[in-house]
Amino acid sequence: MARGLFVTGTGTEVGKTVVAAVIARTLAAEGQRVHAFKPAVTGLDEGVETDHALLRRASGSSQSDEEIAPYRYGPPASPHLAAELAGEEIDPERLRQSARAAAEGADAIVCEGVGGLLVPLSPTYLVRDLAADLGHPLVVVAGPGLGTINHTLLTLEAARATGLSITAVVLTPWPAQPTEIEASNRETIARLADVDVLTLPPINLADPPTWPPLHLPTGQFPSI
Ligand SMILES: Nc1ncnc2c1ncn2[C@@H]1O[C@H](COP(=O)(O)OP(=O)(O)OP(=O)(O)O)[C@@H](O)[C@H]1O
Ligand SMILES: [Mg+2]
Repeated sequence: MARGLFVTGTGTEVGKTVVAAVIARTLAAEGQRVHAFKPAVTGLDEGVETDHALLRRASGSSQSDEEIAPYRYGPPASPHLAAELAGEEIDPERLRQSARAAAEGADAIVCEGVGGLLVPLSPTYLVRDLAADLGHPLVVVAGPGLGTINHTLLTLEAARATGLSITAVVLTPWPAQPTEIEASNRETIARLADVDVLTLPPINLADPPTWPPLHLPTGQFPSI
């Protein structure tokens, strides 16, 4: 049985792929066979490295684009809208099957959500519903700066309201010399939400061997 994690965040462009990639790389460097899964990727038209490509590179997996991300769309839109623009609808059952298939042959599977927890994958099925169906504990990615206390606590509350468990919050990119606000944000989130708050310094995405490991709290990464 592969162990599984679901990396979500306070929103889009907060660093979910970066954190998921560093976790995948950390596990792979320990000798584990790591696979990645992302229910839907949008914004292929933007011409930057895709989330599935970075996750594959970080895990050292040989999964195909399709195996990591079963739904892929050009426009940088919410997945429910990107699918609609392509004349289709994302099927929750296909997502669950694809996620199970992605876990086959792996010791660990690192899943990345899309945007934040309440983003619709289909008109009626949210990222949070998929996280619950997959049953993996969450890693919540957030920025270190002003505004992050509210965004992070809202996300943790939305997760806990449906019984999702939280492995840790990760603040990224975490500066070498945090400001008073950043240091306080870290302490305040940990205290108000009673959660471990980890940090990830700026990394060079092009060069995985230089990435620092990101070790999650032990005992919080169960099998699926
Ligand atoms: N620790 C870090 N080191 C280097 N860059 C970082 C770090 N954390 C965040 N970033 C930068 O933040 C931006 C967004 O990161 P990322 O693509 O991981 O976000 P995301 O939450 O996965 O976005 P999306 O919602 O599109 O999937 C990227 O440009 C990335 O380079
Ligand atoms: Mg991403």
